[in-house]
Amino acid sequence: MRILVIGSGGREHALAWALAGSPLCDKLYAAPGNPGIAQEAECVALAASDVPGIVAFAARERVDFVVVGPEAPLVAGLVDRLEAAGIAAFGPGAAAARLEASKGFAKDLCAAVDIPTAAYRRFTNASAAKAYVREHGAPIVVKADGLAAGKGVTVATEVAEAEAAIDQALIDRQFGAAGAEIVVEEFLAGPEASLLALVDGFNVLPLVSAQDHKRVGDGDTGPNTGGMGAVSPAPALTSAIDAAAVAAIIKPAVAAMAARGTPFKGVLYAGLILTEAGPKLIEFNVRFGDPETQALLPRLKSDLLPALIAARDGDLKDFDLRWDGRPSVTVVLAAKGYPGEPKRDGEIRGLDRATADPAVHIFHAGTRRDGARLVADGGRVLNVTALGATMAEARRRAYDAIAKIEWSDGFYRRDIGGF
Ligand code: AMP
Ligand code: GLY
Repeated sequence: MRILVIGSGGREHALAWALAGSPLCDKLYAAPGNPGIAQEAECVALAASDVPGIVAFAARERVDFVVVGPEAPLVAGLVDRLEAAGIAAFGPGAAAARLEASKGFAKDLCAAVDIPTAAYRRFTNASAAKAYVREHGAPIVVKADGLAAGKGVTVATEVAEAEAAIDQALIDRQFGAAGAEIVVEEFLAGPEASLLALVDGFNVLPLVSAQDHKRVGDGDTGPNTGGMGAVSPAPALTSAIDAAAVAAIIKPAVAAMAARGTPFKGVLYAGLILTEAGPKLIEFNVRFGDPETQALLPRLKSDLLPALIAARDGDLKDFDLRWDGRPSVTVVLAAKGYPGEPKRDGEIRGLDRATADPAVHIFHAGTRRDGARLVADGGRVLNVTALGATMAEARRRAYDAIAKIEWSDGFYRRDIGGF
């Protein structure tokens, strides 16, 4: 088969690495890819947002299957356009991608079918939103309705902070149209977990769990980022809670989407908070998580490609995946300045030495080739994943590998997988 992966981050490097290992894959392309993905695939200079360009390329190169990494092209209808052109693609169409594209839509769907989630109200009017915040008090959470590149959520510890977030979205239009509507919701306390499942429109195949670490600093301090590391499985998610979340959150959402005539196909990612009253949904994503995927895929023993094809073909019933029982730890190496303006262009060396241990995988995110040199070119730059007999061993291996990487502009959290 001729396969095309869309995207250029660490998630897409992990996907490309897994797909390149499939005996079914004869040729792998990535658009636009990155220097790590280029070790697995032929990278083509097409932006992930270039829907017509991608459809034309896939048709011209007789691509059999397209795997879309990021949410924006899914929301823009890339899968609809590919399928209309006769090219099979993994991921939801635009109508089902609304689960991520509109938090208000997702919340209303949860309310309609009793999916446990934070109590909420939708607002377009700032004074009404502030009155609601004053009535409920802090802590309280303010979210831009639409896609805001991970920056649209404010977990406010004071009423004034929530009011400022309301103004930023509704008055200052800091998130543009994505923040013209907001959701104000109850603060949920508890450990977080990411639960991802392949979905074929009707059937659900849960993956092993993961936990992201969103704050920039050790001990979950500092501003939110796209994710500074992940572990799999999520330590707080016992198999009983995992099963409860699949039954109470993922399956009813999939059934509700099918019932409204917009069945969901692809990977459904439920961000959970494990409250004392059970797991509750904080958000749906309609794609693989980043960096969760970098922690999950090295644990996958089965071939990823047939599973993605089965999801697209409506064939997941009775499908099974085998997983490595060993836990994994993924540490993100970010460039100084991140999540603000990252320091770019510093040379990175030592990756070959760092991956000498076969239990270690390095996935590129924000890197670029400058002649023969590899240089930093983004906020999150590298992902270092290691497997181990225990989480502690996986953690030790990941940090041992990081110690071999030479890059003076980088930093990372030291507490992924435990201190
Ligand atoms: P999101 O961008 O929706 O994943 O939210 C970013 C982060 O904000 C999440 O990972 C949580 O840590 C936090 N968060 C979102 N919603 C809530 C909530 N209702 N209660 C507590 N924390 C939340
Ligand atoms: N790791 C969070 C996300 O992918 O949205």
